[in-house]
Amino acid sequence: MSSQPATPQRRITAPDIAAKKGVEPIVSLTAYHAHTAALADKYCDFLLVGDSLGMVMHGYETTVPVPLELMIMHGKAVVRGARRALIVVDMPFGSYEESPSVAFRNAARVMKETDCGAVKLEGGRRMAETIRYLVDRGIPVMAHIGLTPQSINVLGGFKVQGRTDAQWAALEADAQAVADAGAFSVVLEAIPAPLAERITRSIAIPTIGIGASADCDGQILVMEDMLGLSPRVPKFVKKYGTIGEQIEGAIRDYAEEVKQRAFPAVEHTYAMSATQAAAQKAAVAPNSAAKPRK
Ligand code: KIV
Repeated sequence: MSSQPATPQRRITAPDIAAKKGVEPIVSLTAYHAHTAALADKYCDFLLVGDSLGMVMHGYETTVPVPLELMIMHGKAVVRGARRALIVVDMPFGSYEESPSVAFRNAARVMKETDCGAVKLEGGRRMAETIRYLVDRGIPVMAHIGLTPQSINVLGGFKVQGRTDAQWAALEADAQAVADAGAFSVVLEAIPAPLAERITRSIAIPTIGIGASADCDGQILVMEDMLGLSPRVPKFVKKYGTIGEQIEGAIRDYAEEVKQRAFPAVEHTYAMSATQAAAQKAAVAPNSAAKPRK
């Protein structure tokens, strides 16, 4: 047996992610729970505790109602489940837009309470000052531009962005602004592939595509979407599994077996102790052990 103590796993950091640009594709998924985080940890460079959890797990129509406390609760679970991947926690709507100092207070709370390695926030040029403020004070920031779901009420729906010349130019400027402000990476969501490619070539930080293009420096998907657990998914999702069907099939079989009294079977039940068994036997046939009378 080796007397060497096991080397503790070093967690991937935000600078490690930034350093992957031009070196190797960055793999990431969302994660909301400890058990799925543990499964994804080996394969992903970072796991995002996305505020999409409000829609995927909690049944909200949009991400707008998601409270900070919910992000912290799921953030803690994911940090406990994964030992290697960088954990990035989304700042929910209303927790950072007001001012850099409000953003710092809430982002610091997320970092302290979850022990995550970075936060993500939505917005380009309008958030540049805040990104700079957070980074200068020790909080690594991932930016998110293109389709920014927290702005759904302004955008008027989950629509592809960057399809007009004005939007295209605005998104290029947004990407440059968040990179200049010190973000360590930027999510590009639902934008035309040529725009994603152009931004990826023009900025110094990694782009993480979701509905963008294979030219991005990395990719992210909502785990439940790619597993086939979400009932409806956007066009950009490729389903790598049929977990929803498997879960429903298992529940259907269970319900049927309960109704048929086929579950639990003997192997799923507990036997009584030998003493209890002897006592029961004696109670059922009290004279059986006595000597027969002549
Ligand atoms: O909330 C989320 O899951 C996200 C990803 C889709 C990038 O922001």
